[in-house]
Amino acid sequence: MRLFIGIDLGTSAAKLLLVDEEGRIRNTVSKEYPLHFPQPGWSEQDPADWWNACLLGIKELLCGFDAAQVAGIAAGGQMHGLVALDELDRVIRPAILWNDGRTGEETDYLNNVIGRETLSALTGNIAFAGFTAPKLLWMRRHEPENFARIRRVMLPKDYVNYRLTGVHACDFSDAGGMLLLDVKNRCWSQKMLEICGLRTTQMPQLFESWQVIGTLLPEVAAQLGLSASVRVAAGAGDNAAAAVGTGVVGQGGCNISLGTSGTIFITSDHFNVDPHNALHAFSHADGGWHLMGCMLSAASCNKWLCEEILETGDYAAEQAAIRPENLGRNDVYFLPYLMGERSPINDVDARGTFTGLRMDTKRADLVQAVLEGVAFAMRDSFEVARSLGLQIKRSKLCGGGAASPLWRTIFANVLGIPLDLVKTEQGPGYGAAILAMVACGQFASVQDAVRALVKVAETVIPDPALTARYEERYQKYRLLYPALKDTFPQIR
Ligand code: XUL
Repeated sequence: MRLFIGIDLGTSAAKLLLVDEEGRIRNTVSKEYPLHFPQPGWSEQDPADWWNACLLGIKELLCGFDAAQVAGIAAGGQMHGLVALDELDRVIRPAILWNDGRTGEETDYLNNVIGRETLSALTGNIAFAGFTAPKLLWMRRHEPENFARIRRVMLPKDYVNYRLTGVHACDFSDAGGMLLLDVKNRCWSQKMLEICGLRTTQMPQLFESWQVIGTLLPEVAAQLGLSASVRVAAGAGDNAAAAVGTGVVGQGGCNISLGTSGTIFITSDHFNVDPHNALHAFSHADGGWHLMGCMLSAASCNKWLCEEILETGDYAAEQAAIRPENLGRNDVYFLPYLMGERSPINDVDARGTFTGLRMDTKRADLVQAVLEGVAFAMRDSFEVARSLGLQIKRSKLCGGGAASPLWRTIFANVLGIPLDLVKTEQGPGYGAAILAMVACGQFASVQDAVRALVKVAETVIPDPALTARYEERYQKYRLLYPALKDTFPQIR
């Protein structure tokens, strides 16, 4: 029986899965690493921490298993992070992550001087602060010595793949998030590289997510106790990998991920652009495309409230205090913009707020407001998709936040659609393992693999009365950001 390793290279941890050829999860390991906020709105990580987490994680994952059975590895990784390597492939500076907001000026330059129409024509997207291209412009301006040393521009999971294989590769689903890819034609945009002061030789080689980029370097294989013939697949951005893991491939599927970030991911078998560019137009890991809305703080808002403010790790106890009859009746509202916001408002200055506090407001009302605020903000992107004529009748739901039955209920009723949870609920890691299987010939295509392996375990059905109450609350929630938009930059 062959085994496959799927890695979810997340923002808080690397989560690794060992999956057998019948798609059963045989073991899981999670290795945390620190996230650094060196200045307000900045977000960085040390790529060495990712690599060490993967090395230790793989070793631990294989304890008690026959490592000789491992045939393939793939990763789904946090997107957009800038990993800059020098001529000896050393990391030049800490990686600047997807939720880093330092590039407001560079984003404005790209959108207003180069122009949204030009960017959209070249890449299918406009600039958002978290994308890689504005980070490169920031580095050119603020750290010119570092910029001059760049020999290779990489994304987070591609750095891990490079350490595994010695190959500089990137897949199309992740590459789109750099704003350097011509997403429609699946090639680097020469014009965008020029705008950012880069040459094609500095870019990794492009692959489809299920393609083999190489095999393990002999010294890495020896260190891990694996065969040097183990294949490494290109892998995918974590949202594309999560969609594969929940079976959302082909035309017209939807996956909502409630992780550190919150995303809505709508698949298509042809290239599509949101004319307002509020949703990203990227490639999918199945060879197709998708539109995606991304909130920068989703499950992380609940983590922040519980751990930093209420000083508890017992999320379930906090949620148990919320009375079911108070759902859709909470007068407290929360804007979840703890790191600014990407979709659909594209505003680095936006900040989190509680509104509607009263003398009788309870701790549970605040917890509820946070869960609801995240769902309302997701509804904002859902409404953009609807305005494009996309019919989203149901969706898969995955990510750490989906483990909460209460949050699932809130989401299903705020969006007003049934939400399916899959049996193998390890979104990106499971999707990555599927990509490794396809790379090793276990299945002929990502679609075939998904058909055989991904099954729905449970569906959360919205309740019409609760949906109606949430509709009314959502319309009130929608008043808050426009009222505060111009105030946010003034209160920094
Ligand atoms: C997507 C995005 C986030 C990260 C989180 O555009 O920025 O979902 O990929 O890991």
